[in-house]
Amino acid sequence: MEAPGPAGRTAPDGSPYPDRTQPTFEREVRRMFTHIAERYEWFDHVASLGNDFLWRPRALWDLDRFWPRPPSRVLDLGCGTGELARQLARHFPAARVYAADFTRAMVVNAVRAPRGRAGADRLEFCRATALLLPFASGSFDLVTNAFVARNLSDLPRALAEMRRVLRPGGVLLTLEITEPVSPRFSRLFHAYFDRVVPWLGAAVRRAGPYRYLPESLRSLPPRERFLEAMRAAGFPRTAARPQSMGIVTAFLGQAIVAPAQRG
Ligand SMILES: C[S@@+](CC[C@H](N)C(=O)[O-])C[C@H]1O[C@@H](n2cnc3c(N)ncnc32)[C@H](O)[C@@H]1O
Repeated sequence: MEAPGPAGRTAPDGSPYPDRTQPTFEREVRRMFTHIAERYEWFDHVASLGNDFLWRPRALWDLDRFWPRPPSRVLDLGCGTGELARQLARHFPAARVYAADFTRAMVVNAVRAPRGRAGADRLEFCRATALLLPFASGSFDLVTNAFVARNLSDLPRALAEMRRVLRPGGVLLTLEITEPVSPRFSRLFHAYFDRVVPWLGAAVRRAGPYRYLPESLRSLPPRERFLEAMRAAGFPRTAARPQSMGIVTAFLGQAIVAPAQRG
């Protein structure tokens, strides 16, 4: 039985279990990521059976094909412990990368990660919410986010904010867990997320976050509707690039190009 409390729903082991139907949802998501921040990367690797090591680099490969121009200013939103942000700094050796997250504990862990790796001097972490970004309009050539979209309380508003901070012609990359392409594989996928992942979570006394994970997967619109939401937010050129039989998808969108840039 889950117990609702002033700070939101919790699982029997006391861990936060965000409830999307409640007005406190955003606060609950922040509490949940605070609760798992120390072990986030470890559980991410275990729950994805190590596939997350492939997904981010492959998404950057898809990005290079969609938009073969090196960006000079990049924003990674919902950066967590900074895995994608660090890869972006290495991948684009001339880019300054800003990485933002609304959970303080995640940003603290990101900053604590060993420095001295390639690109670390061009990487800056800060706290910010995706729904109200503290950046001027047109500040970035590229905005990215990985495994964030299904946690957002208002996806259209967040997409519009990402569009606002992109310069005309700039590109958005959203990487997210999605429904597998094959129905047979989809049954296996849901059995894994609905049964195995919550069991793993309970075993490490993090029942709430890992019950929330399969629920959050169902809140993401299907691929085609996600692309429609991107177009509605001001990204007329879009593409979806599924990986690992569709378990994850890189959604790419190019912001409206200014008339002088066309041709
Ligand atoms: C599943 S983690 C992904 C972290 C990282 N992007 C990665 O690839 O490992 C989701 C992150 O998004 C952040 N997040 C969720 N909603 C957010 C929002 N509205 N604004 C900013 N960050 C948010 C959470 O704090 C968390 O660190």
